[in-house]
Amino acid sequence: MALLEIEAVSKAFGSLKAVDDVSFSVGAGEIFGIAGPNGSGKSTLFNIVTGIPFGPDRGRVRLDGTEIQARTGDAIARLGLARTFQRETSFDGLTVFENALIGAGFGKPGRPARVIREAAAEALDVVGLPDGAFGRLAGELSVYERKCLMLATAVAMQPRVLLLDEPASSLTKPEIEASIGLIRRIAARGVTIVLIEHVLTFLMTLSQHLLVLNNGRVLAAGAPEAVIADPRVVEAYLGTRRARP
Ligand SMILES: Nc1ncnc2c1ncn2[C@@H]1O[C@H](COP(=O)(O)OP(=O)(O)O)[C@@H](O)[C@H]1O
Ligand SMILES: [Mg+2]
Repeated sequence: MALLEIEAVSKAFGSLKAVDDVSFSVGAGEIFGIAGPNGSGKSTLFNIVTGIPFGPDRGRVRLDGTEIQARTGDAIARLGLARTFQRETSFDGLTVFENALIGAGFGKPGRPARVIREAAAEALDVVGLPDGAFGRLAGELSVYERKCLMLATAVAMQPRVLLLDEPASSLTKPEIEASIGLIRRIAARGVTIVLIEHVLTFLMTLSQHLLVLNNGRVLAAGAPEAVIADPRVVEAYLGTRRARP
């Protein structure tokens, strides 16, 4: 059975169908990639799956068989679904370690403080933020470090499924390479990953399955090589069917 099942979900803003009848499922242990031009509904899809800040107008979302589409974002997170945001998001006035502690302690009442501290330190280690950075204020980090911290805070929640919204955006080439390594490291810990990215090479390197959205609808889905060779995908990305030179 799929760990995450999305069944015919839709979300409209007025007359705009931002996500329109989208279905797919993600197996345990997979890295599942989602691509699509700007405005195609990728982030809205993550919003309605996680309930942050809103659920779908229609459709069902199941996490390990449990329907979650009508639950609040915090309840969904407690069930084991964590996410990052397209823009670096952290508690800027708190330290790196305090940010990770919030993730590690979230939704786990009664968890001993020592266990929470260990989970926070381990998550920071996974993303490569060294002990020397633990006392720095989140607001003073570089863009790459902030992305790593947001990722660590989500990893510290020890989710079953982690949704990453454009982790490679605004990064340099070496930083993108480093991100690929750390996403692989997180996946190797048994976390199922759904990855939105505009950079297709990044998705191609990491994903076992690829889905392309366009105007809120699924344009193509399947094995990554087949999906990017699909003429409709080429057209959506390049705007025209061009012959190869
Ligand atoms: N909260 C919102 N209110 C109104 N329109 C929105 C809102 N969020 C997204 N949209 C619109 O929905 C469409 C899809 O946006 P989004 O999901 O952010 O696309 P992507 O992440 O693929 O770039 C866009 O046209 C966007 O302007
Ligand atoms: Mg987006």
